[in-house]
Parts: sequence; C-alpha cells; structure tokens
Amino acid sequence: MARIVAVANQKGGVAKTTTVVNVAAALEEVGQRVLIVDLDAQACATFSVGLDPEDLERTGATAFLDPEARIPIADLITTTDDGPDLLPAAIDLAGADRALAAIAGREYVVRDALTAVQDSYDWILLDCSPSLGIITINALTAADAVVIPLQCETLSHRGVGQLMETIADVQRLTNPRLQVAGVVPTLFDGRTVHARAVLADLGPRYGVRVFSPISRSIRFAEAPAAGRSILATAGSSRGAQDYRTLAREWTDAIPTV
Ligand SMILES: Nc1ncnc2c1ncn2[C@@H]1O[C@H](COP(=O)(O)OP(=O)(O)OP(=O)(O)O)[C@@H](O)[C@H]1O
Ligand SMILES: [Mg+2]
Repeated sequence: MARIVAVANQKGGVAKTTTVVNVAAALEEVGQRVLIVDLDAQACATFSVGLDPEDLERTGATAFLDPEARIPIADLITTTDDGPDLLPAAIDLAGADRALAAIAGREYVVRDALTAVQDSYDWILLDCSPSLGIITINALTAADAVVIPLQCETLSHRGVGQLMETIADVQRLTNPRLQVAGVVPTLFDGRTVHARAVLADLGPRYGVRVFSPISRSIRFAEAPAAGRSILATAGSSRGAQDYRTLAREWTDAIPTV
C-alpha cells in the first residue's frame, strides 16, 4: 500500500509543487512507483511534468467533484516523461468549495477516490494549493503524513500556527492517523547569516523534525518550463542532490502502512 504524503502550506510560493515534483522524481530514480496528485486549480504540478492543463478533458476534479458518479480514478491517471504517474488538475478544481458544500462526507472524496489505486504505488504525493479550503482538508484527511515546506527567508512564519491548528482539527475529526512528518526548509541560501538563523530556529519553534534544507538555485526556475523535474534537466546540480537526500529522509521518516 502506498504511503500517502500531503505537501501543504497555505502560504504561496514556498516550493510545495517543486518539492512534490522533485521528490517524486528522486523516488522514481531509486525504483519506487510514484503517483503525483495535483490538488491545485492553478495546475502547476500538472504543467511542471509536461502536460498542458488546458488540453485535458478530464482531471482529478472529474471524480472528486462528482463522487456519486464513481468514476474510476485509474482512468483519469496519466503517465509522464519524468517517470511518476499523474492525476492532473485544471481550473475546474477551483469550484470545489461550492461543488462539495452540500455533500455529506465532503472531507473524504479524495481519500475515497485514491483507495482504488493505493496498491499500485509505493508513494502518492499530494500537491496542495495555497489555501486551507476543502480540497486541502481532503488531502490532510487522505494522507498518512503531512510535510510542510517553509521558506528560509523570514523569522516570522506567519500562518504556520494556523496550519498546525488545522492539522490538529483533522487529526481529531477526520484522520487520527495523520502524522506531521516534518518541515522542509526551502529556498535556502546558506551564505546568509539570516537564512542559517531561520534554519536553526525551525526545530525548537515548531517542535517537529526539520529535514535537510533545499538550496536556492536558478535551475528550479528553468525546469518546469521544460516539463521535467530538475533531476532530469540538471541531474548533478546541488538542487537535484538536495531532493535526492530529502527523498531518502522521507523514506526513513515516513513509515510504510
Ligand atoms: N530551491 C529553489 N531555488 C530557487 N527557486 C525555487 C526553489 N524552489 C522553488 N523555486 C521557485 O519558487 C517558485 C515557487 O515554487 P512552487 O511553485 O514550487 O511553490 P508553491 O508553494 O507550490 O507555490 P503555490 O503556493 O503557488 O502553489 C517557483 O518559481 C519555483 O521555480
Ligand atoms: Mg504549488
């Protein structure tokens, strides 16, 4: 059974999508079968692995927003040149809060949809949007573990407290087995005293595991346009190595179910 990991932070631009795409590629490199689930209507993960969201007739939303129809999720999954499989997203997911408002059990539509493919993968990585809306609640409800990317730029990580409260609510109400695997320091520039101070502060501040940081690199800006991970476009770069290290750390930190 796949380990299901939600990569979440309602703050935008902290490298959630970059982390999902590159950890997925790093896990594939060591022979793991990985499914990326794009849960953001902006569809950046879908785009980053080489698909044009506007060309898609059906996406994950096809199943999530109409759970009664019981559309087989396997029919919505596609392969990618990068290696991992993908359950894509497009702008249709933007209507989720309204579409699911009247549905009983609306927190469980992602979990229920993924059940059918859980045995086909070693890992299912959920790329959350920068919000704490119903689809992010769904991701946390479906997940065995949540990983929180945090930018190493500011001492005040405003909003992390609110995310932790949401996680605690999910643990209490819809998913008692959800573990906080840890935080991933992203966009890290080890040359600055400030970034090193922020990094040192993370563990004591949040009382969670701090994974190895991901260095800031221009390579990350280039890769998505090519529709590939940085492991494919700059495989020996520092950033690629950082994500290989992170994938190994997740493998140790997140138990198989
Ligand atoms: N280590 C890095 N070094 C340099 N740039 C990076 C790094 N990681 C991510 N980026 C860049 O930062 C931007 C935001 O990254 P990304 O889209 O992964 O964040 P996100 O948290 O998924 O954003 P959103 O909240 O909008 O979904 C992107 O342009 C990406 O290329
Ligand atoms: Mg994103």
